Amino acid sequence: DGDDGPWSSFSIQIGTPPQRSRLFASTRSTSFWVPVPEGCTKDDPDDCGENRGFLFNTGSSTSWESKGLYELETYEEAKLGLSGNGLYGFDSVTIGWPGDNGPTVSNQAIAGIATKDFYLGGIPLTPWATNFTDIQNPFPSFLTTLKDNGSIPSISWGYTAGAYYNAPQVFGSLILGGYDLARIDPTKQQVSLSLGSDVSREHLIAVQNITFTSGSSPQNLAAASDGIFANINTNVGGMWLPKPVCDRFAEAFGITFDNRTDLYLINDTQHETLKQSNPSVTMQLGGSLIDALSTDIVLPYSSLALQAKSPFLKGSAGSEARYLPIHVAPNNTAYTLGRVLLQHAYVFTDYERMNFTVAPALLPGATNPTAEIVPIRVPGYVTTTKSSSLGGGAIAGIVIGVVAAITGVALVFWFMY
Ligand SMILES: *[C@@H]1O[C@H](CO)[C@@H](O)[C@H](O)[C@H]1NC(C)=O
Ligand SMILES: *[C@@H]1O[C@H](CO)[C@@H](O)[C@H](O)[C@H]1NC(C)=O
Ligand SMILES: *[C@@H]1O[C@H](CO)[C@@H](O)[C@H](O)[C@H]1NC(C)=O
Ligand SMILES: *[C@@H]1O[C@H](CO)[C@@H](O)[C@H](O)[C@H]1NC(C)=O
Repeated sequence: DGDDGPWSSFSIQIGTPPQRSRLFASTRSTSFWVPVPEGCTKDDPDDCGENRGFLFNTGSSTSWESKGLYELETYEEAKLGLSGNGLYGFDSVTIGWPGDNGPTVSNQAIAGIATKDFYLGGIPLTPWATNFTDIQNPFPSFLTTLKDNGSIPSISWGYTAGAYYNAPQVFGSLILGGYDLARIDPTKQQVSLSLGSDVSREHLIAVQNITFTSGSSPQNLAAASDGIFANINTNVGGMWLPKPVCDRFAEAFGITFDNRTDLYLINDTQHETLKQSNPSVTMQLGGSLIDALSTDIVLPYSSLALQAKSPFLKGSAGSEARYLPIHVAPNNTAYTLGRVLLQHAYVFTDYERMNFTVAPALLPGATNPTAEIVPIRVPGYVTTTKSSSLGGGAIAGIVIGVVAAITGVALVFWFMY
Protein backbone atom coordinates (compact mmCIF):
# COMPACT_ATOMS: atom_id res chain seq x y z
CA ASP A 1 0.00 0.00 0.00
CA GLY A 2 0.96 3.65 -0.22
CA ASP A 3 1.93 6.23 -2.83
CA ASP A 4 5.60 6.48 -1.80
CA GLY A 5 6.71 2.84 -1.97
CA PRO A 6 5.00 -0.43 -1.23
CA TRP A 7 4.47 -0.79 2.53
CA SER A 8 2.57 -3.34 4.59
CA SER A 9 -0.70 -2.14 6.08
CA PHE A 10 -2.68 -3.73 8.90
CA SER A 11 -6.34 -4.68 9.04
CA ILE A 12 -8.67 -2.81 11.38
CA GLN A 13 -12.45 -2.40 11.50
CA ILE A 14 -14.06 0.80 12.66
CA GLY A 15 -17.63 1.66 13.63
CA THR A 16 -20.98 -0.12 13.91
CA PRO A 17 -21.52 -2.07 11.70
CA PRO A 18 -17.75 -2.45 11.30
CA GLN A 19 -16.13 -0.86 8.25
CA ARG A 20 -12.83 -2.27 7.03
CA SER A 21 -9.72 -0.19 6.93
CA ARG A 22 -6.10 -0.88 6.00
CA LEU A 23 -3.84 1.27 8.15
CA PHE A 24 -0.12 1.81 8.65
CA ALA A 25 1.51 1.60 12.07
CA SER A 26 1.97 5.09 13.47
CA THR A 27 4.69 5.56 16.08
CA ARG A 28 3.61 9.17 16.43
CA SER A 29 -0.15 9.68 16.57
CA THR A 30 -2.42 9.52 19.58
CA SER A 31 -5.58 8.83 17.57
CA PHE A 32 -6.53 6.58 14.67
CA TRP A 33 -6.21 8.36 11.34
CA VAL A 34 -8.50 7.05 8.65
CA PRO A 35 -9.32 8.55 5.23
CA VAL A 36 -12.92 9.70 4.88
CA PRO A 37 -14.92 10.17 1.63
CA GLU A 38 -13.76 13.82 1.40
CA GLY A 39 -10.30 12.33 0.83
CA CYS A 40 -11.24 11.25 -2.68
CA THR A 41 -12.61 13.83 -5.10
CA LYS A 42 -14.03 13.52 -8.60
CA ASP A 43 -10.56 14.32 -9.97
CA ASP A 44 -9.14 11.21 -8.34
CA PRO A 45 -9.07 7.82 -10.02
CA ASP A 46 -12.05 5.53 -9.34
CA ASP A 47 -9.98 3.28 -7.11
CA CYS A 48 -8.86 6.17 -4.86
CA GLY A 49 -10.80 4.85 -1.85
CA GLU A 50 -9.40 1.35 -2.32
CA ASN A 51 -5.87 2.76 -2.75
CA ARG A 52 -6.20 4.79 0.45
CA GLY A 53 -7.00 1.66 2.44
CA PHE A 54 -10.83 2.18 2.20
CA LEU A 55 -12.75 5.26 3.26
CA PHE A 56 -14.50 5.44 6.61
CA ASN A 57 -18.03 6.74 6.33
CA THR A 58 -18.90 8.30 9.70
CA GLY A 59 -22.56 8.69 8.66
CA SER A 60 -22.93 4.92 8.29
CA SER A 61 -21.71 4.17 11.80
CA THR A 62 -24.34 4.25 14.56
CA SER A 63 -21.64 4.42 17.23
CA TRP A 64 -19.82 7.47 15.74
CA GLU A 65 -19.73 10.40 18.13
CA SER A 66 -18.42 13.50 16.37
CA LYS A 67 -16.22 16.04 18.18
CA GLY A 68 -15.41 18.37 15.34
CA LEU A 69 -12.63 19.53 13.06
CA TYR A 70 -9.15 20.01 14.52
CA GLU A 71 -5.63 20.21 13.19
CA LEU A 72 -3.91 16.83 13.09
CA GLU A 73 -1.16 16.38 15.68
CA THR A 74 1.54 16.83 13.05
CA TYR A 75 4.05 18.87 15.01
CA GLU A 76 6.85 16.72 13.60
CA GLU A 77 5.51 16.07 10.11
CA ALA A 78 4.68 19.75 9.52
CA LYS A 79 8.43 20.44 9.58
CA LEU A 80 8.60 18.13 6.58
CA GLY A 81 5.75 19.96 4.88
CA LEU A 82 3.10 17.38 5.80
CA SER A 83 -0.04 18.40 7.67
CA GLY A 84 -3.82 18.44 7.53
CA ASN A 85 -7.03 18.58 9.46
CA GLY A 86 -8.91 15.74 11.08
CA LEU A 87 -12.62 15.28 11.58
CA TYR A 88 -12.31 14.02 15.15
CA GLY A 89 -14.71 11.77 16.96
CA PHE A 90 -15.04 8.55 18.88
CA ASP A 91 -15.99 5.12 17.64
CA SER A 92 -15.30 1.47 18.33
CA VAL A 93 -12.33 -0.29 16.78
CA THR A 94 -11.81 -4.01 16.15
CA ILE A 95 -8.40 -5.47 15.39
CA GLY A 96 -8.26 -7.64 12.27
CA TRP A 97 -10.77 -8.54 9.58
CA PRO A 98 -14.14 -10.19 10.26
CA GLY A 99 -13.46 -13.74 11.43
CA ASP A 100 -10.04 -12.90 12.91
CA ASN A 101 -11.73 -12.64 16.34
CA GLY A 102 -9.60 -9.66 17.31
CA PRO A 103 -10.58 -7.63 20.37
CA THR A 104 -12.99 -4.70 20.04
CA VAL A 105 -12.50 -1.52 22.03
CA SER A 106 -15.04 1.26 22.17
CA ASN A 107 -14.64 5.02 22.46
CA GLN A 108 -11.41 5.30 20.49
CA ALA A 109 -10.29 8.70 19.29
CA ILE A 110 -10.47 8.76 15.50
CA ALA A 111 -9.44 11.47 13.06
CA GLY A 112 -11.09 11.26 9.65
CA ILE A 113 -8.54 12.64 7.20
CA ALA A 114 -8.92 14.10 3.73
CA THR A 115 -5.36 15.42 3.32
CA LYS A 116 -3.27 13.47 0.82
CA ASP A 117 -0.08 14.27 2.73
CA PHE A 118 -0.83 11.02 4.55
CA TYR A 119 -2.25 8.72 1.90
CA LEU A 120 -3.25 5.91 4.24
CA GLY A 121 -4.35 6.26 7.83
CA GLY A 122 -2.57 4.94 10.89
CA ILE A 123 -2.88 2.89 14.06
CA PRO A 124 -1.79 5.00 17.06
CA LEU A 125 1.11 3.46 18.98
CA THR A 126 1.84 6.24 21.45
CA PRO A 127 0.14 5.96 24.83
CA TRP A 128 -0.29 9.69 25.25
CA ALA A 129 -3.91 10.70 25.60
CA THR A 130 -5.70 12.59 22.85
CA ASN A 131 -6.53 16.19 23.74
CA PHE A 132 -9.50 18.02 22.34
CA THR A 133 -9.76 21.71 23.10
CA ASP A 134 -13.33 21.30 24.36
CA ILE A 135 -12.63 18.35 26.63
CA GLN A 136 -11.19 18.70 30.11
CA ASN A 137 -10.30 15.08 30.53
CA PRO A 138 -8.01 13.61 27.91
CA PHE A 139 -9.06 10.28 26.42
CA PRO A 140 -7.04 7.11 27.05
CA SER A 141 -5.02 5.91 24.08
CA PHE A 142 -5.61 2.73 22.09
CA LEU A 143 -2.74 0.88 23.82
CA THR A 144 -3.86 2.07 27.26
CA THR A 145 -7.40 0.83 26.59
CA LEU A 146 -6.09 -2.56 25.41
CA LYS A 147 -3.92 -2.89 28.51
CA ASP A 148 -6.71 -1.81 30.87
CA ASN A 149 -9.13 -4.38 29.45
CA GLY A 150 -6.53 -7.15 29.65
CA SER A 151 -5.99 -7.64 25.91
CA ILE A 152 -2.28 -6.90 26.15
CA PRO A 153 0.12 -7.27 29.11
CA SER A 154 1.74 -3.83 28.91
CA ILE A 155 1.90 -0.59 26.97
CA SER A 156 4.45 -1.69 24.42
CA TRP A 157 4.78 -2.67 20.78
CA GLY A 158 7.15 -4.25 18.28
CA TYR A 159 7.22 -3.34 14.61
CA THR A 160 9.10 -3.94 11.40
CA ALA A 161 7.88 -2.66 8.04
CA GLY A 162 8.63 -5.80 6.03
CA ALA A 163 10.50 -6.01 2.73
CA TYR A 164 8.23 -6.10 -0.27
CA TYR A 165 11.07 -6.18 -2.81
CA ASN A 166 12.53 -9.32 -1.26
CA ALA A 167 11.98 -12.77 -2.79
CA PRO A 168 9.90 -14.13 -1.15
CA GLN A 169 8.12 -10.89 -0.24
CA VAL A 170 8.19 -10.25 3.49
CA PHE A 171 5.22 -8.62 5.17
CA GLY A 172 5.51 -6.16 8.00
CA SER A 173 4.78 -7.29 11.54
CA LEU A 174 3.09 -5.34 14.29
CA ILE A 175 2.86 -6.78 17.80
CA LEU A 176 1.02 -5.01 20.60
CA GLY A 177 2.11 -5.82 24.16
CA GLY A 178 5.41 -7.39 23.16
CA TYR A 179 7.60 -8.14 20.18
CA ASP A 180 8.41 -10.91 17.73
CA LEU A 181 11.79 -12.44 18.47
CA ALA A 182 11.69 -14.33 15.16
CA ARG A 183 11.98 -11.03 13.28
CA ILE A 184 15.17 -9.93 15.07
CA ASP A 185 18.62 -11.05 13.86
CA PRO A 186 20.17 -12.71 16.95
CA THR A 187 23.68 -12.54 15.50
CA LYS A 188 23.76 -8.75 15.22
CA GLN A 189 24.31 -5.97 17.74
CA GLN A 190 21.18 -4.05 18.83
CA VAL A 191 20.86 -0.84 20.86
CA SER A 192 18.41 0.06 23.63
CA LEU A 193 17.84 3.70 24.45
CA SER A 194 15.64 5.80 26.68
CA LEU A 195 12.66 7.37 24.96
CA GLY A 196 13.31 11.06 24.35
CA SER A 197 11.80 13.59 26.73
CA ASP A 198 10.32 15.47 23.76
CA VAL A 199 7.16 13.41 23.13
CA SER A 200 7.09 14.36 19.46
CA ARG A 201 10.67 13.08 18.97
CA GLU A 202 10.65 10.12 21.35
CA HIS A 203 12.50 7.73 19.08
CA LEU A 204 15.52 9.96 18.73
CA ILE A 205 18.70 8.16 17.68
CA ALA A 206 22.19 9.31 16.73
CA VAL A 207 23.30 8.58 13.17
CA GLN A 208 26.98 7.91 13.74
CA ASN A 209 27.80 6.93 10.20
CA ILE A 210 26.21 6.25 6.85
CA THR A 211 28.30 4.13 4.52
CA PHE A 212 27.73 3.42 0.85
CA THR A 213 29.20 0.10 -0.21
CA SER A 214 29.55 -0.93 -3.82
CA GLY A 215 32.00 -3.70 -4.62
CA SER A 216 35.02 -3.35 -2.37
CA SER A 217 35.10 0.43 -1.90
CA PRO A 218 33.05 1.74 1.02
CA GLN A 219 32.31 5.45 0.85
CA ASN A 220 31.22 7.72 3.71
CA LEU A 221 27.92 9.52 3.18
CA ALA A 222 27.64 10.84 6.73
CA ALA A 223 29.83 10.90 9.81
CA ALA A 224 29.54 11.92 13.46
CA SER A 225 30.68 15.40 12.40
CA ASP A 226 27.38 15.82 10.50
CA GLY A 227 25.70 15.79 13.92
CA ILE A 228 22.57 13.92 12.89
CA PHE A 229 20.07 13.10 15.63
CA ALA A 230 17.11 11.64 13.79
CA ASN A 231 13.66 10.65 14.96
CA ILE A 232 12.32 7.28 13.85
CA ASN A 233 8.82 8.12 12.62
CA THR A 234 6.66 5.62 10.75
CA ASN A 235 4.14 8.26 9.69
CA VAL A 236 6.50 8.92 6.79
CA GLY A 237 8.21 6.72 4.22
CA GLY A 238 11.58 8.28 3.54
CA MET A 239 14.55 9.74 5.38
CA TRP A 240 15.10 13.48 5.94
CA LEU A 241 18.80 14.30 6.21
CA PRO A 242 21.14 17.29 5.94
CA LYS A 243 21.64 18.74 2.46
CA PRO A 244 25.35 17.75 2.21
CA VAL A 245 24.43 14.16 3.11
CA CYS A 246 21.70 14.06 0.44
CA ASP A 247 24.23 15.43 -2.07
CA ARG A 248 26.62 12.61 -1.19
CA PHE A 249 23.81 10.04 -1.61
CA ALA A 250 22.99 11.46 -5.06
CA GLU A 251 26.63 11.40 -6.13
CA ALA A 252 27.20 7.86 -4.87
CA PHE A 253 24.06 6.58 -6.62
CA GLY A 254 24.78 8.60 -9.77
CA ILE A 255 21.42 10.38 -9.70
CA THR A 256 20.25 13.98 -9.57
CA PHE A 257 17.53 15.85 -7.74
CA ASP A 258 14.47 16.43 -9.92
CA ASN A 259 13.05 19.91 -9.25
CA ARG A 260 9.75 19.12 -10.92
CA THR A 261 8.84 16.27 -8.57
CA ASP A 262 11.04 17.31 -5.60
CA LEU A 263 12.47 13.80 -5.59
CA TYR A 264 15.77 12.07 -6.26
CA LEU A 265 14.53 10.09 -9.26
CA ILE A 266 16.31 7.01 -10.59
CA ASN A 267 15.83 6.60 -14.35
CA ASP A 268 15.73 3.19 -16.03
CA THR A 269 19.28 3.38 -17.34
CA GLN A 270 20.73 4.24 -13.95
CA HIS A 271 18.51 1.61 -12.31
CA GLU A 272 20.00 -1.09 -14.53
CA THR A 273 23.52 0.09 -13.69
CA LEU A 274 22.73 0.10 -9.96
CA LYS A 275 21.09 -3.32 -10.11
CA GLN A 276 24.34 -4.62 -11.61
CA SER A 277 26.63 -3.03 -9.02
CA ASN A 278 24.08 -3.74 -6.25
CA PRO A 279 25.29 -1.19 -3.66
CA SER A 280 24.04 -1.05 -0.09
CA VAL A 281 23.76 1.67 2.53
CA THR A 282 24.71 0.93 6.13
CA MET A 283 23.21 3.15 8.81
CA GLN A 284 25.24 3.03 12.03
CA LEU A 285 22.89 4.11 14.81
CA GLY A 286 23.57 4.62 18.50
CA GLY A 287 22.70 6.49 21.67
CA SER A 288 25.17 9.28 21.01
CA LEU A 289 27.33 10.33 18.07
CA ILE A 290 30.40 8.71 19.62
CA ASP A 291 28.79 5.89 21.61
CA ALA A 292 30.80 2.69 21.34
CA LEU A 293 27.58 0.71 21.30
CA SER A 294 25.73 0.91 18.00
CA THR A 295 23.65 -1.11 15.59
CA ASP A 296 24.21 -1.41 11.84
CA ILE A 297 21.09 -1.39 9.69
CA VAL A 298 21.99 -2.46 6.15
CA LEU A 299 19.70 -1.29 3.36
CA PRO A 300 20.34 -3.08 0.06
CA TYR A 301 19.79 -1.13 -3.17
CA SER A 302 16.48 -2.91 -3.86
CA SER A 303 15.07 -1.60 -0.59
CA LEU A 304 15.98 1.96 -1.62
CA ALA A 305 14.59 1.91 -5.19
CA LEU A 306 11.01 2.80 -4.26
CA GLN A 307 8.02 3.53 -6.46
CA ALA A 308 6.44 6.99 -6.30
CA LYS A 309 2.86 7.33 -7.44
CA SER A 310 0.38 10.18 -7.57
CA PRO A 311 -0.36 12.16 -5.38
CA PHE A 312 3.07 11.74 -3.73
CA LEU A 313 4.52 12.00 -7.24
CA LYS A 314 3.56 15.42 -8.47
CA GLY A 315 2.49 15.69 -12.07
CA SER A 316 0.11 13.65 -14.18
CA ALA A 317 -2.11 11.30 -12.24
CA GLY A 318 -1.57 7.62 -12.86
CA SER A 319 2.13 7.98 -13.60
CA GLU A 320 4.84 6.26 -11.60
CA ALA A 321 8.53 6.87 -11.08
CA ARG A 322 11.37 5.17 -9.27
CA TYR A 323 13.06 7.27 -6.59
CA LEU A 324 15.59 7.18 -3.78
CA PRO A 325 13.69 7.91 -0.53
CA ILE A 326 15.90 10.70 0.79
CA HIS A 327 14.84 14.31 1.33
CA VAL A 328 16.63 17.45 2.48
CA ALA A 329 15.56 18.34 6.04
CA PRO A 330 14.83 22.04 6.65
CA ASN A 331 17.04 22.09 9.75
CA ASN A 332 18.52 19.90 12.45
CA THR A 333 15.23 19.56 14.36
CA ALA A 334 13.68 17.74 11.41
CA TYR A 335 16.04 14.80 10.76
CA THR A 336 13.77 11.79 10.36
CA LEU A 337 14.07 8.10 9.57
CA GLY A 338 10.85 6.67 8.15
CA ARG A 339 9.53 3.29 7.11
CA VAL A 340 12.39 2.76 4.65
CA LEU A 341 14.75 2.09 7.59
CA LEU A 342 12.18 -0.18 9.24
CA GLN A 343 12.34 -2.58 6.28
CA HIS A 344 15.60 -3.83 7.77
CA ALA A 345 15.25 -2.66 11.37
CA TYR A 346 13.03 -4.06 14.08
CA VAL A 347 11.98 -1.54 16.72
CA PHE A 348 10.25 -2.36 19.96
CA THR A 349 9.17 0.18 22.51
CA ASP A 350 8.42 -0.36 26.18
CA TYR A 351 6.41 2.55 27.52
CA GLU A 352 6.29 0.95 30.97
CA ARG A 353 10.05 1.49 31.31
CA MET A 354 10.30 4.30 28.77
CA ASN A 355 12.90 2.68 26.57
CA PHE A 356 13.12 1.37 23.01
CA THR A 357 15.32 -1.02 21.11
CA VAL A 358 16.51 -0.89 17.51
CA ALA A 359 17.79 -4.16 16.06
CA PRO A 360 18.65 -5.46 12.60
CA ALA A 361 15.57 -7.26 11.30
CA LEU A 362 15.61 -10.85 10.17
CA LEU A 363 13.63 -11.49 7.01
CA PRO A 364 11.87 -14.79 7.59
CA GLY A 365 12.32 -17.15 4.67
CA ALA A 366 9.31 -18.88 3.19
CA THR A 367 10.25 -21.96 5.17
CA ASN A 368 10.33 -20.28 8.58
CA PRO A 369 7.38 -17.92 8.94
CA THR A 370 6.58 -18.81 12.57
CA ALA A 371 6.35 -15.91 14.99
CA GLU A 372 8.02 -16.08 18.40
CA ILE A 373 6.04 -13.59 20.44
CA VAL A 374 7.74 -12.31 23.56
CA PRO A 375 5.29 -10.51 25.88
CA ILE A 376 6.61 -7.41 27.63
CA ARG A 377 5.43 -7.47 31.28
CA VAL A 378 4.67 -4.55 33.49
CA PRO A 379 7.41 -3.84 36.06
CA GLY A 380 6.88 -6.04 39.13
CA TYR A 381 4.94 -8.69 37.22
CA VAL A 382 5.07 -11.98 39.11
CA THR A 383 4.75 -15.27 37.27
CA THR A 384 2.34 -17.66 39.00
CA THR A 385 1.51 -21.21 38.12
CA LYS A 386 -2.25 -20.67 38.42
CA SER A 387 -3.88 -21.31 35.08
CA SER A 388 -6.09 -18.26 35.59
CA SER A 389 -3.01 -16.09 35.18
CA LEU A 390 -2.71 -17.29 31.61
CA GLY A 391 -5.88 -15.59 30.50
CA GLY A 392 -6.34 -12.26 28.84
CA GLY A 393 -3.31 -10.12 29.35
CA ALA A 394 -0.79 -12.86 30.09
CA ILE A 395 0.25 -13.67 26.57
CA ALA A 396 -0.63 -11.42 23.73
CA GLY A 397 0.58 -10.41 20.38
CA ILE A 398 -2.07 -9.08 18.15
CA VAL A 399 -2.67 -8.19 14.54
CA ILE A 400 -0.16 -10.31 12.57
CA GLY A 401 0.96 -12.27 15.62
CA VAL A 402 -2.46 -13.45 16.72
CA VAL A 403 -2.19 -17.05 15.51
CA ALA A 404 1.17 -17.62 17.16
CA ALA A 405 -0.03 -16.15 20.43
CA ILE A 406 -3.04 -18.45 20.59
CA THR A 407 -0.80 -21.42 19.83
CA GLY A 408 1.48 -20.34 22.68
CA VAL A 409 -1.32 -20.18 25.22
CA ALA A 410 -2.71 -23.52 24.09
CA LEU A 411 0.70 -25.17 24.41
CA VAL A 412 1.18 -23.88 27.94
CA PHE A 413 -2.27 -25.12 28.95
CA TRP A 414 -1.61 -28.51 27.41
CA PHE A 415 1.78 -28.79 29.09
CA MET A 416 0.37 -27.95 32.54
CA TYR A 417 -2.60 -30.23 32.13
C1 LIG B 1 12.99 24.03 11.41
O1 LIG B 1 12.24 24.05 10.22
C2 LIG B 1 10.84 24.03 10.42
C3 LIG B 1 10.18 23.91 9.06
O2 LIG B 1 10.67 24.86 8.18
C4 LIG B 1 10.41 25.28 11.19
O3 LIG B 1 9.04 25.23 11.43
C5 LIG B 1 11.15 25.31 12.51
O4 LIG B 1 10.83 26.49 13.20
C6 LIG B 1 12.66 25.23 12.28
N1 LIG B 1 13.30 25.13 13.57
C7 LIG B 1 14.40 25.78 13.87
C8 LIG B 1 14.95 25.57 15.24
O5 LIG B 1 14.96 26.51 13.07
C1 LIG C 1 -2.47 17.62 26.16
O1 LIG C 1 -2.74 18.65 27.08
C2 LIG C 1 -1.79 18.74 28.13
C3 LIG C 1 -2.28 19.77 29.12
O2 LIG C 1 -2.68 20.92 28.46
C4 LIG C 1 -0.41 19.07 27.54
O3 LIG C 1 0.56 19.13 28.56
C5 LIG C 1 -0.03 17.99 26.53
O4 LIG C 1 1.17 18.33 25.90
C6 LIG C 1 -1.11 17.82 25.48
N1 LIG C 1 -0.79 16.65 24.69
C7 LIG C 1 -0.81 16.68 23.35
C8 LIG C 1 -0.46 15.41 22.69
O5 LIG C 1 -1.12 17.67 22.72
C1 LIG D 1 14.50 -0.77 29.85
O1 LIG D 1 14.64 -0.14 31.11
C2 LIG D 1 14.62 -1.04 32.21
C3 LIG D 1 14.60 -0.22 33.49
O2 LIG D 1 15.47 0.87 33.39
C4 LIG D 1 15.81 -1.97 32.11
O3 LIG D 1 15.81 -2.87 33.19
C5 LIG D 1 15.71 -2.75 30.82
O4 LIG D 1 16.83 -3.57 30.64
C6 LIG D 1 15.58 -1.80 29.63
N1 LIG D 1 15.26 -2.59 28.47
C7 LIG D 1 16.02 -2.62 27.42
C8 LIG D 1 15.57 -3.47 26.30
O5 LIG D 1 17.03 -1.95 27.38
C1 LIG E 1 19.67 8.78 -16.44
O1 LIG E 1 20.34 9.36 -15.34
C2 LIG E 1 21.73 9.49 -15.52
C3 LIG E 1 22.30 10.01 -14.20
O2 LIG E 1 21.61 11.13 -13.74
C4 LIG E 1 22.01 10.44 -16.69
O3 LIG E 1 23.39 10.56 -16.90
C5 LIG E 1 21.34 9.89 -17.93
O4 LIG E 1 21.48 10.82 -18.99
C6 LIG E 1 19.87 9.62 -17.69
N1 LIG E 1 19.32 8.90 -18.84
C7 LIG E 1 18.18 9.24 -19.40
C8 LIG E 1 17.73 8.40 -20.55
O5 LIG E 1 17.51 10.19 -19.01
